[in-house]
Amino acid sequence: MLLFTTCGPVIDKRLSIMRHKVTIVGAGNVGGMVAQRLAQAQVADIVLMDAAPGLAGGKVLDLLHAGPVCRYDTPLIGTSTYDETAGSSVVAICAGLPRKPGMSRDALLKANTDTVKAITQEVVSRSPNAILLIVSNPLDVMSYVAYKTSGFPKARVVGMAGVLDSARLQVFIALELGISAEHVQATVLGGHGDDMVPLLRYTTVSGIPVTDLISPERLTAIIQRTQNAGAEVLKLLQTGSAYFAPSAAVAEMVTTILRGQKRILSCSALCQGEYKVDNLFSGVPVQLGEGGVEKIIEMKLTPDEEAAFRKSVKSVEMSCRLIEPSLC
Ligand code: LAC
Repeated sequence: MLLFTTCGPVIDKRLSIMRHKVTIVGAGNVGGMVAQRLAQAQVADIVLMDAAPGLAGGKVLDLLHAGPVCRYDTPLIGTSTYDETAGSSVVAICAGLPRKPGMSRDALLKANTDTVKAITQEVVSRSPNAILLIVSNPLDVMSYVAYKTSGFPKARVVGMAGVLDSARLQVFIALELGISAEHVQATVLGGHGDDMVPLLRYTTVSGIPVTDLISPERLTAIIQRTQNAGAEVLKLLQTGSAYFAPSAAVAEMVTTILRGQKRILSCSALCQGEYKVDNLFSGVPVQLGEGGVEKIIEMKLTPDEEAAFRKSVKSVEMSCRLIEPSLC
């Protein structure tokens, strides 16, 4: 039974069939796709929230219509207010301005800081035990904003991008070799920006080091393409940034958390001493489970890798410094 008005919420009264509720704030391309992927995964009741009247309701109604065809019957709510988000286990914050072609992620700093701060205040007051999963850019800085604003323990605030960046590296390696990406294993460290650090030493194809399979020149080109992959998609789309792969990364993280799987995934996590990083979010391998970031895995880095990682963290630090006064 559905209740809805022209621009009002779309509410599925079966909500609470599932053990968990997941809220997605921001019903744009990424948020909408996350809702679809999670509806198909059938792991939680889903609340899609967007301040724009009708947007989340429209997407949820459309998703409900797809259910019988795609064989899911996940309870869904689409709403423009926060009350329906109460009691969520995970809140994914996908709202905020996306980049335009030629724009850096840091250009979004001011606008998205205000947005993420306001959303965090609204959601944590209604879901005090939630894990916050940050997707808005610049990713590592917005994760820091959510962490400071929420007052949550560091384990319960995590940023998305390492899963996405690693997947992009996997795909570019697979395209180069003309093979399936399925057994390519790749790790990307550092901030989700142009200085991210794809770690070739930890990148393998069915256990075979990628450096045995691809020439150093081609690997350099692949690294650069991975670092620019978001901008490459943006330039082609012109009207907005990537959303199929980012939403897939978010859905993987949410299901990993809800199922308590303890997968080791590259995520943006608050480092307090790990990798010699002092109180900043950065992409690092984490054990992700029902407690959120249950552990940060520290890998030994060569001096070159260490230098590249420091450079990446430095750019995150500089952006954090710019917004720190607004968090006090
Ligand atoms: C990208 C956005 C999500 O990399 O930052 O496509």
